[in-house]
Amino acid sequence: MKKRIPQTKTAHSSTPENIAIEPRRPEFDFSGVDKYWLKDPFTSQFMNALSIVVPVSERTVIDIVRKYADNITEPKLIREMDALIRQEGRHTLMHLRCNELLKKCGYPAIRPFERFQKFFVGKMRKISPPAWELAMPAAFEHFTSAISRDFIVNNRFWAGDQSNAAIDFTRWHALEELEHQAVCFDVFAALEKRTWLLTLALIFIWMPATLISVYGMQFYFLLKDGILLKRKNWGPYLKFVFQSLPMLTRGALKYIDKAFRPWNPKDIQIYQAHKQEIRHILS
Ligand SMILES: [Fe+2]
Ligand SMILES: [Fe+2]
Repeated sequence: MKKRIPQTKTAHSSTPENIAIEPRRPEFDFSGVDKYWLKDPFTSQFMNALSIVVPVSERTVIDIVRKYADNITEPKLIREMDALIRQEGRHTLMHLRCNELLKKCGYPAIRPFERFQKFFVGKMRKISPPAWELAMPAAFEHFTSAISRDFIVNNRFWAGDQSNAAIDFTRWHALEELEHQAVCFDVFAALEKRTWLLTLALIFIWMPATLISVYGMQFYFLLKDGILLKRKNWGPYLKFVFQSLPMLTRGALKYIDKAFRPWNPKDIQIYQAHKQEIRHILS
C-alpha cells in the first residue's frame, strides 16, 4: 500500500497574481488542414508526433492532480488545479481530433504506439512511490511549457508564413500551457520537499522517454512520407533535430535549487504579449 502524503498548510501557489488560469473553449475546424501545416515537413511532423503523445500525457496529468487534490489546502492552488484540469481536458479533446485526421493519412504504427505509451505510463505509475508519481505531471508540464515558450517566441522557425486552424489551435494551447506552467510543480513542491527528485525523474526517465517518442514518431512519419528516403533532405532534417533538441534537453537541473519557481519576469512579458496577439482566437 502506498504511504499517505501529509497535508500541507503553507501557501504554495507560485503563479503570479496577475496571471489568471482561465479554461476557454474555442472551436477549431481542422478539416481543410494539410498534414504539413507548419513551415515544412520537419516542423510539421515533429508537432504531429507531439500531438500523438499529448492525450495520454495530459490525461495522466489530470488523473494525478485529482488523486492528490485532497492533500492540498491552499485555496488559490486548489482553484488553479481545477482550472488546469479543465484546460487539459479541452486540449486532450482537440488533440484526439487532430490525431484521428493524422491516422487517416496512413500511419499504421500510430495505434500500437498509443497502446504502448498507455501501458508504459500506467506501469510507471503503478511502480512509483508517491513522490515519483507526483513528479510525473511536473515533468510533463516541464516539456509542454518549454515547447510552448519556444513555439511562441520562435514562431517563424515553426510556422514560417503559414496560417491555418492547426496553428491557431497550437497558439491557444501554448498560451494555456504557459498560463498553468507552475501548477503541477507547485503541487509537487507542496507535498515533496526533495524537489531534486524531479531532476532525477526528468534525466533518467521522462527526458529519454520523450525524446525517443517524439523524435521516433517524427522519424517514422518522415520515412513513411518518403521525405527521408531522399538524400537531399537529410541535411535539413538533421539541422532541425539539432535546432529543436535544446528545447527538450534544457533546464532539468534547475529543480535542484529549492527556491526555484517556474515563472520569471520574462515569461510574464512573453505570456502577456502572446495573449494580446491571439485575442481574436480566444474571443
Ligand atoms: Fe495541454
Ligand atoms: Fe499542461
